[in-house]
Amino acid sequence: MDKFVIRGGNPLVGTIRVSGAKNSALPSMAAAILTEDEVILENIPQVRDIETERRLLTSMGAQIFQGEVAGDAPNSISISFRTLSDPVAKYEIVKTMRASSLVLGPLIARAGMARVAMPGGCAIGGRPIDLHIKGLEKMGATITQEHGYLEARAERLKGVHLVFDRITVTGTEDLLMAAVLAEGETLMENCAREPEVADLAALLTAMGAKIEGAGTSTIRVRGVSRLRGARYRINPDRIEAGTFLVAGAITGGDLIVTNCNASHLGAVIAKLEEAGARVEILGPDTVRVRGGKLRAANISTEEYPGFPTDMQAQYMALATQAEGLSTVEENIFENRFMHAQELARMGANIKVEGRTATVRGPAALSAAAVMCSDLRASASLVLAALVADGESILDRVYHIDRGYERIEEKLAGVGAQIRRMGNVFAPRNDETNAD
Ligand code: EPZ
Repeated sequence: MDKFVIRGGNPLVGTIRVSGAKNSALPSMAAAILTEDEVILENIPQVRDIETERRLLTSMGAQIFQGEVAGDAPNSISISFRTLSDPVAKYEIVKTMRASSLVLGPLIARAGMARVAMPGGCAIGGRPIDLHIKGLEKMGATITQEHGYLEARAERLKGVHLVFDRITVTGTEDLLMAAVLAEGETLMENCAREPEVADLAALLTAMGAKIEGAGTSTIRVRGVSRLRGARYRINPDRIEAGTFLVAGAITGGDLIVTNCNASHLGAVIAKLEEAGARVEILGPDTVRVRGGKLRAANISTEEYPGFPTDMQAQYMALATQAEGLSTVEENIFENRFMHAQELARMGANIKVEGRTATVRGPAALSAAAVMCSDLRASASLVLAALVADGESILDRVYHIDRGYERIEEKLAGVGAQIRRMGNVFAPRNDETNAD
């Protein structure tokens, strides 16, 4: 099993580049189901979840070419669903990545039927997809559950007025993809406003969809009978960018984070400044962070544009180095403090009560062998190890490979003492469902 070996103590200095957004790439790849034409996506991160999505779409009949093969930019991908031979998302694939359920809406919209394995439990919470199902049923799909699979059918989905019971990112994306080929108009309210939703809508619009209001809580879609192919460049990854900003602040370094979208980082930058880091926006795609005397600041995770839950673990690592008591409130997922125990093993002073953790700092962290449990928890352990005294061993880093493109090389490029033991893309068969 791959491990990271990290020796702490070096301030990170230099320029670090952000890859494309995993959480934009996944729905955008699923959107290719909606047309028989070729869809070319640029700025696709080379991470494990993209590999899984590729396997999923190929298993349903897609022809997929990675950039170079298609004589295109390296991080581009060409997807063609001339035929949708098998509208089934198999359990073997879905169990390794919940976002596989994003094919449900597009499959029903394109083929009038879908068989999608139910995503099981997850390290960070129950994460049901009841709101996806409820919305699709309202649009006229009949959905039954048998042998761990959702069986869905619909002649043609109908435009409806939908109000989400609670804000859901992939729920909004799934229903949006269902609505673009539906008969008539769909009005969706209480939608997620995450930049990834607006990114998907921009791709769908390039494919000929009629969408208004993406990025706000009210989205209006006028269904069309057919979508065409398109070429589209997805957003940079705001969570990877946020992780690097925290890395610069926690190590007392001077980092320039490039190829990001500064306007997507408002809540993270504001919190880092409140905690004593110096942050400068050098341009629309470049942010500089310099360490400073870190002081306690509280966070409470919210839907966008609030403080992202996907930055909570990384922020907790920073709070272990801040003067005073920080409270960390997790409002999106019911079990997203797995990293707290591992940080405590390194000497952090953290108390967890329900959805609130209190972190007393600064703590002198000492290196230890720690276990990664999910994608963002792994990132927080990397950050803690960068400031711990001695050499830490991080186990099960396959979790971090799911959403960070060669993070050890990027961090080593700005002075981190980090190396990988093992092979990035070694085939795995025991990967459990997280994120
Ligand atoms: C997306 O997950 C992201 N994943 C997650 O990123 C991110 O943490 C999350 O949004 C919140 O920002 C992708 O985009 C692939 P939700 P998603 O539906 O869409 C409950 C990462 O680290 N809910 O917005 O699955 C749910 O249980 C990952 O990159 C229902 O109850 O999250 C949760 O408590 C982790 N029923 C809340 O809503 C539903 O049908 C928000 O979940 C759907 C969701």
